[in-house]
Amino acid sequence: MEFYEAVNSRRTVREFQDEPISTEVLERIVSSAFKAPTNDHMRDWHYVIIRDKKTAAKLLDIIPKGISDEDMDRLIRDWDLSDSLQQECYRSAVPKQYRMLFEASAVIIPLLKQKTDVLHPENISHLNGFASIWCSIENLFLAAAAEGYACNLRVPLGNEAEYAKEVIGAPEDHLMPCFIGIGRPKKDLVPVKQKPISLKERIHWEKF
Ligand SMILES: Cc1cc2nc3c(=O)[nH]c(=O)nc-3n(C[C@H](O)[C@H](O)[C@H](O)COP(=O)(O)O)c2cc1C
Repeated sequence: MEFYEAVNSRRTVREFQDEPISTEVLERIVSSAFKAPTNDHMRDWHYVIIRDKKTAAKLLDIIPKGISDEDMDRLIRDWDLSDSLQQECYRSAVPKQYRMLFEASAVIIPLLKQKTDVLHPENISHLNGFASIWCSIENLFLAAAAEGYACNLRVPLGNEAEYAKEVIGAPEDHLMPCFIGIGRPKKDLVPVKQKPISLKERIHWEKF
């Protein structure tokens, strides 16, 4: 697939076909993550790939399996989600947080060796390691799109990351930015519409 085609076709997918994904394809996709720019030249990242359903069930057990209508309404209010497309996205995504990972062909856990406290950075460069792994994650997403697969991600809430790290045996000094689900998108899936952007308003030439 041509590069811009992959960029334009990448979407977050939360419903997958029940289909295995080969080691070869996964290796190709995840290896692209290691081509991303890195703050300290070290590419100090690890990716743990989980295909075994028993391990996935244990790993994901901490994630809420759904949400009541009342809690969903409260979330929309509390998070001040006023845009209708944004609301639609949350109403579609939040109930699927467990399913989108458990029903994926594989769950992928990125890990980075974090030397500074990302929750209390002294300056913006203390977030460089964290920023770098997100560049790496985007490479993975684009590679998945180029291969005809799609990904979703969940940023861990509460103690989800600590729990997940223990299940997969990740070193304590490694930070887990998200859970990733990867698989072949369900047939005839209609993803939530992306928020339209006017490039004319967002791309500035010479000055804002
Ligand atoms: C930093 C970040 C955090 C996100 N957290 C979540 C999440 O916790 N759960 C989820 O389902 N999607 C999450 N997403 C995916 C977004 O919902 C999705 O990218 C957005 O709605 C745009 O849709 P698209 O990826 O299809 O263009 C996250 C994306 C980013 C970049």
